[in-house]
Amino acid sequence: MTVTICIGSSCHLKGSRDVVARLQSLISENGLDSQVQLSGSFCNGRCDQGVVVTIEGDDQIYSVLPETTEMFFQNEILPRLAG
Ligand code: FES
Repeated sequence: MTVTICIGSSCHLKGSRDVVARLQSLISENGLDSQVQLSGSFCNGRCDQGVVVTIEGDDQIYSVLPETTEMFFQNEILPRLAG
């Protein structure tokens, strides 16, 4: 599964680097390095919803902030791997 985080300037200001770092540690802590890959994307024009995160195979845009990264991981990433 590839999770893509926008690293455009608006999302960067909202903490995209922090979102990436937190996701990376959550993935490692859960031993999921071989199952979840993180990728970066440039601005896709949804800056108002930043930090914009998308999951491969899913058209939805997730709006994730550093403080909601763990919730996003629990609610959107873990269940997909279990299913
Ligand atoms: S900078 Fe992320 S959507 Fe514009």
